[in-house]
Amino acid sequence: MIKTIEVDLKEDSYPIIVGTGIINRIGAYIKSHIQPTSVLIVADTVVKYHFAPPVVDSLKRSGYDVSIVDIPGGEGSKSVDQLFQVLDSLVDNQLDRGSTLIALGGGVIGDLVGFAAAVYMRGIAYVQIPTTLQAQVDASVGGKTAINHPKGKNLIGAFHQPKLVLIDVDTLKTLPQRDIHAGLIEVIKMGVIRDESMFAMVEDNLDGVLNLDAKTLIEMIACACANKADIVAKDEKESGLRMVLNYGHTFGHALEALTDYKVYRHGEAVSVGLNCAARLAVNLGLFSEADFERQRTLLNRSKLPLTFPTDLSPETIYDAMSLDKKTVGGKLRLILPTRIGAVVIRDDVPETKIIEAISQCY
Ligand SMILES: NC(=O)c1ccc[n+]([C@@H]2O[C@H](COP(=O)([O-])OP(=O)(O)OC[C@H]3O[C@@H](n4cnc5c(N)ncnc54)[C@H](O)[C@@H]3O)[C@@H](O)[C@H]2O)c1
Ligand SMILES: [Zn+2]
Repeated sequence: MIKTIEVDLKEDSYPIIVGTGIINRIGAYIKSHIQPTSVLIVADTVVKYHFAPPVVDSLKRSGYDVSIVDIPGGEGSKSVDQLFQVLDSLVDNQLDRGSTLIALGGGVIGDLVGFAAAVYMRGIAYVQIPTTLQAQVDASVGGKTAINHPKGKNLIGAFHQPKLVLIDVDTLKTLPQRDIHAGLIEVIKMGVIRDESMFAMVEDNLDGVLNLDAKTLIEMIACACANKADIVAKDEKESGLRMVLNYGHTFGHALEALTDYKVYRHGEAVSVGLNCAARLAVNLGLFSEADFERQRTLLNRSKLPLTFPTDLSPETIYDAMSLDKKTVGGKLRLILPTRIGAVVIRDDVPETKIIEAISQCY
């Protein structure tokens, strides 16, 4: 089963192809959609071990000479050093403006390779082959690319859309269970912000997702990508609508930063953020207690955390939220749910209310 979703961005439009067995047909997809002069694969080290052979074979069958560079996964690789490692190999392999870079790995490799593709020769083509659930439902779609500055995450980046996103759900078979749970948060988030039927799909099919049933995964991932594609098509550069994707993220980013990005997976920290943002929305009379409970139950069933660690005070968390780059003119901009399937953007919530909601999430 294969599903295709179009990201509609005029001359920058591209398809997202979701299915099984795709990894064995990468060459054919790239040849028919892009026809590059040459290709270079940049792979996560672990993913290279599991999946590089079929990708390389398939590209060779389509007539490409293939070189492969590997980079360790994990946030530390979104660095200037690793960026230059990738750029050096582009120069060494004499990639030209007709060449295509292939990102094979999770969101870290996707963000790093996308940024290298954005800046090499003022921009060359790249393809995303995401291999974590997080990257398949979120990071690989939408063209946001970045590396980190020592003082902040994703501070150095560019908007640069891929030419093609190829999602093979078979690649999730080697992913640790914890990363499956963490990736699910972006689907749950998308359900709450704009798609109640997708939220219900996850509620009804959670066992199938956690057991990696291919048909269930393909349907869920295609639905999440279609939602993200729709938002990106309407607001590519995040001037308005795209902000709703930050639901739960201001709280989550604070928790990730305060624990040095070492304790929580991104999705786990955002899960605490979803729970806290929803609590705040209940306190403000925007969200019902029943919907709060419905979200809490699904997060809990997805084995995602709901509470802040007791060694971080609500004031400390609030201060870290204020440093997040999503503040505008010093005001915290929050995405708050009004029901499962709809949110509002608010920048007028008093500090006391935010601290009160945090203190209810321990
Ligand atoms: N560009 C965007 O729009 C966007 C959106 C959301 C998140 N992100 C970024 O994504 C990153 C997080 O992505 P992630 O969670 O995929 O992290 P990641 O890329 O570090 O992958 C997590 C771990 O899984 C391993 N791995 C990857 N695929 C595997 C597989 N199939 N089998 C076994 N192991 C595998 C990696 O080696 C790594 O250790 C963050 O840097 C975040 O900023 C970007
Ligand atoms: Zn996220």
